[in-house]
Amino acid sequence: MILQFDFNMSEWKYKWWQKTTVYQIYPRSFKDSTGNGIGDLQGIISKLDYLEELGVETIWFSPFFDSPQQDHGYDVRDFRGIAPEYGTLKDFNQLLKEMHDRNMKMVLDFVLNHTSIDHPWFIESASSRDNPKRNWYIWRDGKKSGGKKPPNNWTTMTGGCAWLYYENTDQWVYFHFLPSMIDLNYRNSEVKEEMFNTMRFWLDKGVDGFRLDILHAIYEDEQLTNDKFSWTIIPSDKKVDTLFHKHKYDLNLPETFDFALELREVMDEYEPERFLVGEVCGSIEEIKKYYGPNNNGLHMCFLFEFVSTPFDSKKYISLISRIEKALPFPFTPTFVYGNHDIDRYISLLKNNFLKAKILATMQLTLRGVPFIYYGEEIGMPNVRFKLKTSEDPIGRKFSWFPMPQLSRLIGFSLTRDRCRTPMQWNNEKNAGFSSNIEIEPWLKVSDTFEKINVEKEQKNPASLLNCYKRLLSVRKENIALQEGELQLIKHEKLEKNYISYIRRYKAQKIFIYLNFTKKELLIQTPIEKPELLFSTLSNRKALDTEAYNGNIKLTPLEGIIFNKK
Ligand code: NOJ
Repeated sequence: MILQFDFNMSEWKYKWWQKTTVYQIYPRSFKDSTGNGIGDLQGIISKLDYLEELGVETIWFSPFFDSPQQDHGYDVRDFRGIAPEYGTLKDFNQLLKEMHDRNMKMVLDFVLNHTSIDHPWFIESASSRDNPKRNWYIWRDGKKSGGKKPPNNWTTMTGGCAWLYYENTDQWVYFHFLPSMIDLNYRNSEVKEEMFNTMRFWLDKGVDGFRLDILHAIYEDEQLTNDKFSWTIIPSDKKVDTLFHKHKYDLNLPETFDFALELREVMDEYEPERFLVGEVCGSIEEIKKYYGPNNNGLHMCFLFEFVSTPFDSKKYISLISRIEKALPFPFTPTFVYGNHDIDRYISLLKNNFLKAKILATMQLTLRGVPFIYYGEEIGMPNVRFKLKTSEDPIGRKFSWFPMPQLSRLIGFSLTRDRCRTPMQWNNEKNAGFSSNIEIEPWLKVSDTFEKINVEKEQKNPASLLNCYKRLLSVRKENIALQEGELQLIKHEKLEKNYISYIRRYKAQKIFIYLNFTKKELLIQTPIEKPELLFSTLSNRKALDTEAYNGNIKLTPLEGIIFNKK
């Protein structure tokens, strides 16, 4: 059975951002041009040719703004300045120009929920109760005698009390993530205006969009209602409950959904269109609220459910159906397998590159925007780090916990260093990451670099890198893969074996078949004379249905894309 469409094809008008492909760069780890062991903007510029050749269209940069780097840039000290270790505004301008010259778009990471504790606004705000910046953050009196107990029972996203006491003014200040990053007060219109103007500052320079860091945490309940108990310990992508707390009064407030509409208004001041992608948490239905009632909120939100879905075709089919149902066109879904906070997906797949190719094929052919995390395209794995000496503050926060047991218990690691190691460019010392081979990079390079690196994979037609490259190119050449509606082809009894779907744009129909088993599969062709556009097997040239009684033969863990000749 084929799913029915419930929207009007003739009204389809795609915007560039709805069909773009995004590559995420973690600047600290991409390419070091100065030889100090830390990646930088000039390093990135030197690798733009590589990215252009790969075929990605938009680049999202994790923050490179001025910061004391307690959380590697997510603790911003100056929203309009570049951190000196990454470069200068001049380097930024050059990067933007070189990207635009290549027809690539730039997306910045905008951390509007909080500032670094070292931000001049916070230093002022903390200095006295009557400082003009006092109300830029959320200060409250404590409870109990002498106000020595926090104002309520709220906890942070990383666990522990969400309030920090300041003796000089005898008040508590609220933070949702780490005590080195304090939440801004968006009930103060001055804060809003300043942050909107900061967006305009970058938009005026020509930036094409923003990724919005933990947007769901922008507003908190004004009455500071105590949080309720939850049985959930481990945070998940489906609900916001964490570490025995419900987080009903500090996350996903109605005011935050309205705020998404205001952010959109700022973006809509600009032509050609720019886009916003929100990092928000909750069920797909909850996340949808950020898109706005008339699709007039965020342009898109990250959907993280693919990350936690095991390699199982049946589970993916059900997830794809849910996404299509919750976010039909013109809503734009996103497809994410990894980022700087999550274990690398190749490691979750136990380094099975055939499986990685299947997932890449799915990611680049579903309806919506794929986000590829740097290194994902070559299969860079997780690297083990000790929590105690972890660069990531979260790792250090949990260093008291016995790591191996913990990892086994919760299924993931607590130091995000694992997925942030230097990009593996070649098989030289430091994997070609740093111009200085004597230097120890800020994070150690994965031992796999001699086997897994860009230079090596470029030469191998069967590599994961070349698979991504071919997929990006097929997507660019076929409008149905960018703008086509999506129909899952239902085959209930065989759902555990393979996934198949059609992307259709006007008369063009493109078929995607993904074999999730380790067996060969013979599948009846849905059309006569199918023409092969892509196979995860680099040497497969045709479908050769005549040799199989009109069937298509899929080899184990093979993914194919075809259309009608
Ligand atoms: C989410 C970001 O992805 C993460 O890296 C960061 O530590 C927190 N937000 C706090 O900004």
